[in-house]
Amino acid sequence: MNIVLVGMQWGDEGKGKVIDILSQKVDYVVRYQGGNNAGHTVVVGAKEYVFHLIPSGILHAGKICCIGNGVVIDPEVLKSELNSLRKNGIDFDKRFKISTLAHLIMPYHKNLDQLRETKRMNKIGTTGRGIGPCYADKINRCGIRMVDLLNRRVFSDKLKDNLKEKNEIFKKVYRHPGFSFQQIYRQYLNYGKLFEPYICNTAVLLNKACNDKSDILLEGAQGTFLDIDFGTYPFVTSSSATSGGACTGTGIPPVKIDKVVGVCKAYTTRVGEGPFPTEFTEGFGKFMRDKGNEFGATTGRPRRCGWFDAVIARESVMLNGITELAIMKMDVLDGIDKIKICVAYKYKNKIIKEFPHDFELLSKAAPVYKEMAGWPNQANKPRSFKELHPNARAYLLELQNLLGAKVSMVSIGSARKATIFI
Ligand code: IMP
Repeated sequence: MNIVLVGMQWGDEGKGKVIDILSQKVDYVVRYQGGNNAGHTVVVGAKEYVFHLIPSGILHAGKICCIGNGVVIDPEVLKSELNSLRKNGIDFDKRFKISTLAHLIMPYHKNLDQLRETKRMNKIGTTGRGIGPCYADKINRCGIRMVDLLNRRVFSDKLKDNLKEKNEIFKKVYRHPGFSFQQIYRQYLNYGKLFEPYICNTAVLLNKACNDKSDILLEGAQGTFLDIDFGTYPFVTSSSATSGGACTGTGIPPVKIDKVVGVCKAYTTRVGEGPFPTEFTEGFGKFMRDKGNEFGATTGRPRRCGWFDAVIARESVMLNGITELAIMKMDVLDGIDKIKICVAYKYKNKIIKEFPHDFELLSKAAPVYKEMAGWPNQANKPRSFKELHPNARAYLLELQNLLGAKVSMVSIGSARKATIFI
């Protein structure tokens, strides 16, 4: 069975926990897009591991973990993640693979990301990790890929070509001194040596795995509304975070995908700029941020919080082909009197039930809420759907109803065991 796992909101839905649970049941775990703009923490016993690039499935013995061609890789970050695994005695040598075709984040991408952001009138609030400029070079056909690091001549030509144009832009547009060929060339060839044992044609590897009836988990980073096509553009990331990206980002064809699982929080959060119709007012927003510990895993930035938005979640079910839902952080809603679900938007006296593409409309739309009764703190953590408070059950059934997909997992705490399977 090949499963794609996607975020249904603006990222940070808690995909890491679901991935950790599902990883135990599959043979392969594959990242298909994004880069070290993503991040999640996995706690095993007393040890805490933070992953930005390597699938956390690597912590489970015997699982083969791949970074697919759709991912952009900052080699320094990858090197330090591998070092940390090694330091903790995790043996990954035969089970970690990197696609030959994955693009590399270069030093100039990171600078450009930050410089462009300072010049923009409408700031995106990027993570500043060079993600956008790296994907831009990929599309501009001047990107540098993992395989290039294994061929000095190809790499040297490509890097020279890039620096010729980029240094001129850095000097003339940004008054930045530019970058030295020799320094990057040497540094990146060293990365190449380091990664060589893991670099391979992962598309061939994964298609063989499909033929052998192995199980594969394809993990998306970010979320549907940060997707370059379907997100709240331009306040999005630069890759295809939706399930379609799982095919282009790995080389596994659509006919070989069996199921798409959508992950969403029981409420909504977003980091960075951009429209957010159900955003809480400041006071309640701060209360919920502290209650849910809503601070970015990668940048530590406070996340904006709001009520569950069924308009975007429904769109997400449609765009991704989601049939099963994992509802995360349900416990954060414990103890709140009245809980709201946004079922439509209102703009200029019109009710809008579908996600609007017009930027002004989305920014100014007022949410239409359905109010539901809350439930008390559930100190004796329920272990099954039946043990949940009746109002919590009603809330989940309402989400299921509104979204047209089955709730198959509910998370009520960060520990693995604080999960209800339905
Ligand atoms: P970039 O991906 O660094 O270019 O940032 C573009 C937008 O996506 C910004 O609003 C970021 O805050 C947001 N973003 C990128 N990665 C994540 C993530 O993993 N979780 C939540 N937001 C993200």
